[in-house]
Amino acid sequence: MIKNTLFTNKPVTIGPESGYDNYIMAIESSCDETACAIVKNGREVIANVVASQIKTHAKFGGVIPEIAAREHMDSINIVIDEAFRQAKENAGLNPSDITAFAGTVGPGLVGCLLVGLNAAKTLALTYDKPFIGVNHLNAHLCGNYLDTDLKPPFMALLVSGGHTQIIDVKSYSEQRIIGETIDDAVGEAYDKVARLIGLPYPGGPKLDKLAQEGNPKAYRLPEGKVEGLNFSFSGLKTAVLRLVKELKSNTDMEFPTADVCASFQECVSSTLLKKVKKALENSGYNQVVIAGGVAANSEIRRKIFNLENEGYKVFAPPMKYCTDNAAMVASCAYFNTNTFDDINVEVFSRVK
Ligand code: KG4
Ligand code: ZN
Repeated sequence: MIKNTLFTNKPVTIGPESGYDNYIMAIESSCDETACAIVKNGREVIANVVASQIKTHAKFGGVIPEIAAREHMDSINIVIDEAFRQAKENAGLNPSDITAFAGTVGPGLVGCLLVGLNAAKTLALTYDKPFIGVNHLNAHLCGNYLDTDLKPPFMALLVSGGHTQIIDVKSYSEQRIIGETIDDAVGEAYDKVARLIGLPYPGGPKLDKLAQEGNPKAYRLPEGKVEGLNFSFSGLKTAVLRLVKELKSNTDMEFPTADVCASFQECVSSTLLKKVKKALENSGYNQVVIAGGVAANSEIRRKIFNLENEGYKVFAPPMKYCTDNAAMVASCAYFNTNTFDDINVEVFSRVK
């Protein structure tokens, strides 16, 4: 793709067809992670810095948008400086060697997005380089290009706090959502169920850990009955609520936390696997990837990786590229995965 620099209007070719090494610096600040990274040619991570706000929000049991935005403001310059420092140390790069600057545009918390996006735009203006706006969900998918040789076409399962989608990735820039949740996202269901059984924020990873010690067959929970490749998790959430009430009313026994977690995790992961298999069979693809914060889940990973025994190639980013980070944003900018190239692009909270 050809993008123009901002002051001198010089055309710059970016992406696999450019014929020279691209170094893209990206900033991510859509929720509670302030992140900056520099990636060479969409795959090789030169610098990767993430400042997490988990400790701050844990006190409140969830992300408080106004506090998150203020924390981004405190951290943004620090993560940018550290990324430049790592790039110098790891590859001898100077800020003027950056090919283009990228920033997450949405979906996310508006006040948070504004901090990172304005920093990315400012860097592009300062160094007179192209600016590339990135969609956070596409970036999660591109986390799979980091340190791998994955090439489209493939089937993708995107599971995060706000989204649950099956995406047919036909090429780097062409993708189609072929299944999604009609109510709660998987991460949302994890966090709600975790709260219900009294686990502290962030509940998803804690529930996952406890589930590994429990019996997945202890309680039968209902899979959402939805046609085709769509999902529904709200019925499951209600069933867990009912089960928890019933178990708690029995004061003769200790509450079986690990078994409840394992049964919930079993139900969610087998539903996801079933639909992904269906999508793979329909498409004829032999590659599948998982992405998004919930792709860090041990049982979902295990079930999807089991598809290797059926001849599929399976990709899942390492943990550090599953949760929010900026390396995936840089990769998305390089591969031009539905990017925005106008410096005037505005942040957005939801997928339009
Ligand atoms: O993608 P992400 O970092 O943020 C967005 O939603 O964009 O995903 C965060 C979600 C949270 O709901 C969190 O509880 C969930 O991912 N999560 C997990 C695990 N690690 C993170 N859920 C289940 N098991 C995990 N190991
Ligand atoms: Zn995310």
